[in-house]
Amino acid sequence: MSLTLLSPLDMHLHLRDGEMLANIAKESAHTFSGALIMPNLVPPVSTKEEVIAYKQRIMAAIGHETFTPYMTLFFKPSYDKAFLTSIKDEITAIKLYPAGITTNSEGGVSGFDVEELRPALEAMSELGIPLCVHGETGGFVMDREAEFVSIYEKLATAFPKLVIIMEHITTKASVEALDRFENLYATITVHHLLITLDDVAGGMLKPHLFCKPIAKRPEDRDALLEVALKGHPKVMFGSDSAPHPKHAKESCGCAAGVFTAPVALQLLAELFENKLAPLENLQAFISGNAQRIYKLKPLAKTVMLEKKSFHVPSDYRGVVPMYADEQIAYSIKTVE
Ligand code: NCD
Ligand code: ZN
Ligand code: ZN
Repeated sequence: MSLTLLSPLDMHLHLRDGEMLANIAKESAHTFSGALIMPNLVPPVSTKEEVIAYKQRIMAAIGHETFTPYMTLFFKPSYDKAFLTSIKDEITAIKLYPAGITTNSEGGVSGFDVEELRPALEAMSELGIPLCVHGETGGFVMDREAEFVSIYEKLATAFPKLVIIMEHITTKASVEALDRFENLYATITVHHLLITLDDVAGGMLKPHLFCKPIAKRPEDRDALLEVALKGHPKVMFGSDSAPHPKHAKESCGCAAGVFTAPVALQLLAELFENKLAPLENLQAFISGNAQRIYKLKPLAKTVMLEKKSFHVPSDYRGVVPMYADEQIAYSIKTVE
C-alpha cells in the first residue's frame, strides 16, 4: 500500500545554526517542500540583516534539495511600522515567545499588556504579517497552556484582523478557542498526536520525548486528534522538530525538544491510516491549510510513502530522533 503527499509543509521547524544546521537541515529539506523556520537562535533573529544571512546559511546547508525556508523574526514590542515595512518581504511571520519559557527565549515578552504591544501588533495587522505564539504562562507546568488561552483571547479581540497562530497546541482548551475566534489558528506536532505525559514520565523517564509544552492528558490528545484527523481548516502541521545534541538530552538537565523531522511524514501516514482518516484530510493538514492561511505557493514536491517497515536510526549525526532504534510502519518510497 502506498500514498502520495503533495508539497508537504512543516509550519514550525527549528533548524538551528552552525554545525547542527549543517547536520540536520537535509532531514527536513529532502521530504518537505518548505518550512517555517523558528528564530530562537543565540542571539535571536531580530534584524533584516540577520534574517537574510540566516536564510543564506540555510540554503547553503540544504544543498540541491527543493525546499523553501519561510523565515520568521523574533518578536520585540519595539518593532515599529517603518521597520516592519522594510522587512515584510523577507519574512513569512513573526514569532512571539514569553520571556524565558522555552529554549533560547530569554529576550521574549514579559507581561502581556495590550497597550504596550499595540504599536507592533497593529502594524503587523495592517501589513498582513501573521503572529506565531508560544502560548504558555509561567504557571504550573500542566496548566501553562490552558492559562495562556485568556491571553490569546485578549490578543485576538484587540487585533481582530491579525492572524494569530497558537503554536504546537497540546490541550483541549486551545482546540476549543479555535472556533471562538475567527483570527485564531493552530499548529499541531506529530508527537503531541501520538503521546501523553504517561509516555514521557509514566514509566522510565524518556528524555527524547521531553518538550515544551509538555505532552498532556489522553483527553487533550483526543481533542488534538479530532481536529487534525478531520483536516480542520484552521489547523496546520508544525513538527516543532527541535534537535539538541544527544548529551544535552541525556543529562541531568534535559533540554526541551523532540527531533521528529526524519520520521514525521511516515508517522502521520501511519496515524491517519490507523484512524481511518481520508487522505485528503492529511493533505489539508500537511499543506492545503497552511497554503490558505499563510497565502503560500509552495514549490512542487511529490512524496510517495509506502507501507513498509522502517527501522529508525539510533541517531542522525549525534541527534536522537523520536522512536530511535524502533520499527515504524511507513517508509518514504520516492521524492520527486
Ligand atoms: C524548542 C527548541 O528547542 O527550540 N523546544 C521545545 O521543547 N519545543 C522551543 C519551542 O518550540 O518552544
Ligand atoms: Zn515553542
Ligand atoms: Zn518550537
